[in-house]
Amino acid sequence: MANKEESIEKKHICCIGAGYVGGPTMAVIAYKCPDYIINVVDISDERISQWNGPLDKLPVYEPGLSEIIEKTRNKNLFFSTEIDSAIKKSNIIFMAVNTPTKTKGEGKGMAADLKHVEECAKKIALVSESDKIIVEKSTAPLGTAQKIKNTLTNFNNRLNFEVISNPEFLAEGTAIDDLLHPDRVLIGGDKSQSGVIAVNEIVKIYNHWVDKNKIITTNSWSSELSKLASNAFLAQRISSINSLSALCDISGAEIFEVAKAVGADSRIGNKFLNASVGFGGSCFKKDILNLVYLCNHYGLDEVGEYWHQVLKINDFQKQRFSSRIIKILGDNIKSKVVSIFGWSFKKDTNDSRESASIDVAKTLLDEGVNIKIYDPMVSKETILNDIIKTVSLNAQEQILKKITICDNIIDAAKYSNCIAILTEWDEFKSIDWTELSNLIDNELFIADGRNLINPNEIENLVNYISVGNTKLRNFD
Ligand SMILES: NC(=O)c1ccc[n+]([C@@H]2O[C@H](COP(=O)([O-])OP(=O)(O)OC[C@H]3O[C@@H](n4cnc5c(N)ncnc54)[C@H](O)[C@@H]3O)[C@@H](O)[C@H]2O)c1
Repeated sequence: MANKEESIEKKHICCIGAGYVGGPTMAVIAYKCPDYIINVVDISDERISQWNGPLDKLPVYEPGLSEIIEKTRNKNLFFSTEIDSAIKKSNIIFMAVNTPTKTKGEGKGMAADLKHVEECAKKIALVSESDKIIVEKSTAPLGTAQKIKNTLTNFNNRLNFEVISNPEFLAEGTAIDDLLHPDRVLIGGDKSQSGVIAVNEIVKIYNHWVDKNKIITTNSWSSELSKLASNAFLAQRISSINSLSALCDISGAEIFEVAKAVGADSRIGNKFLNASVGFGGSCFKKDILNLVYLCNHYGLDEVGEYWHQVLKINDFQKQRFSSRIIKILGDNIKSKVVSIFGWSFKKDTNDSRESASIDVAKTLLDEGVNIKIYDPMVSKETILNDIIKTVSLNAQEQILKKITICDNIIDAAKYSNCIAILTEWDEFKSIDWTELSNLIDNELFIADGRNLINPNEIENLVNYISVGNTKLRNFD
């Protein structure tokens, strides 16, 4: 006789896309839902073999991720490139593929490119042998769920496909904690009978560990817009405080004091009010561009322009910070060295997509400055690739001569004319600046793009600029 556990039929979930969202999200679902078998599939052999490889070399670095992978991998969580068979045996298919900004065609530079989403929909339609629930996990423009549904039925009108929007709200660097303790889970679907059943199937998964009152169900349009809106609001807060930091830098106001006073109003709240060199990451810029494109597409140019300003302020902030570094360097700029501390777009991730470091480095390199870079998590190949992508083919060799990637803080700081702190890694908070200033040959300048240093610790020791602090501004 089959034992009780064997007799309970396990449900199969497939997730297409084993990236920063697909990997961690499915790992947490597998961990919390032992009654589901989860196959995460990807077209990239390299990514899949990294997910199946050593725990300290997973393709995504997130605190707590490797521990969960260790507990679930090859038990109820599997990584593979066998996409067709994973689709066939699953009742529920998540799509967590990338939706970058379009680089050509209509909407170039603004609209989201849905080619990967479309490819997945087509593949699901062509290989499926039974009805499926398709979950749009990728961030996509309004109406994408409907588009997916159309593609599915165009290529296969024999089966029933329900399309659900379930955008992901995790933040890189805290992804596992965000997934384990989400502020909310959003599930958007059709109001038809089969649509409601499909929404409930997805609610059931999250309900293994998320309270019912944190699971919000809406129609798919609201769900899609809420994701874009959440990222736009978050980025807007950063641009708001950064815009004020520019005023602080030329007046007697201190951004710490302003942020504290403004954030004390309970209607405003005190989170996400840290001034910095500017935001990065793969999502904020692309999702706001996508929102702006949608507004313009619907003839809402004023609304589009309103959100576009969030990005313009971010570019202004990065440029403003780079210009201040250039001013510090003074004459003979081509012989000067800037040490960039931090390449990832924020701490506790190995993701450098759209990192502010890339823009600052590019501006400095354009001026002929030599740069040394240290990051505890981003690989040398990724850093060089990030820079090379911004340079024309014939300038690459020359640019590469100006860059040194270092393995530690001390090597990166040696012979430096200015240390630019661009990521808020904890490691940089505990630097003994007295010791470091004794080790490097030059007078030490620090450009603190994350307001990370306690100014009392470096008083009279180094020349220092930060973002929006007059008290600490002893150079420009
Ligand atoms: N990274 C984040 O913090 C974050 C947070 C919330 C939402 N999102 C959204 O989630 C989506 C995925 O983001 P990500 O950061 O995980 O992207 P990613 O680039 O890290 O991963 C996407 C993966 O999809 C794979 N892929 C693409 N087309 C495929 C296909 N046809 N078949 C199989 N695999 C395919 C790629 O090889 C890649 O491994 C995006 O829409 C993004 O906007 C990202």
